[in-house]
Amino acid sequence: METTLIILKPDAVQRGIMGRIISRFEEKGLQVVGCKLMQISQQLAATHYEAHQSKPFYPGLIKFMTSSAVLVMAIRGNGAITIARNMMGATFGSKAAPGTIRGDFGVSNSFNLIHGSDSPEAAERELRLFFKPEEILNWKRDGDGWIYDQSGGKAE
Ligand code: RTP
Ligand code: MG
Repeated sequence: METTLIILKPDAVQRGIMGRIISRFEEKGLQVVGCKLMQISQQLAATHYEAHQSKPFYPGLIKFMTSSAVLVMAIRGNGAITIARNMMGATFGSKAAPGTIRGDFGVSNSFNLIHGSDSPEAAERELRLFFKPEEILNWKRDGDGWIYDQSGGKAE
């Protein structure tokens, strides 16, 4: 099972569509194993987006991500990192396909509602940045027998 970091960005929180976005992940069958509302500090934003430091959009990105509350989530499932990225859609709201979160809920390129880790390495690093180990719960979901085929001894 993979765990990925999802951030519902300030625009998603301010627009009151957190619940609708969380529902999409739940309905897909992914499991929420960590969740908290927080305001990202300048330092945390800079560390999280350090790969983009030299990009022209970087100052605006940091300003946006620290401007208001965000909801950070740890989301788990087989292939959760790629599944979540596909559900998010292309980076720019103007280009994201209908049916994706960015495609259905936004038109802006910078205010694009959601972040998701883009690789296993990024997920591990980002989960450690935003969550203490004890804030990620290995809770048993009773319905997993109907979410995954477990007849072969592992979740398929
Ligand atoms: P994210 O990291 O937030 O999940 O988004 P992403 O992988 O789809 O896109 P990335 O290239 O990593 O860019 C990070 C965030 O920077 C903002 N951005 N603005 N105006 C622009 O040209 C531009 N390009 C990127 C977006 O908020 C994007 O999510
Ligand atoms: Mg990215």
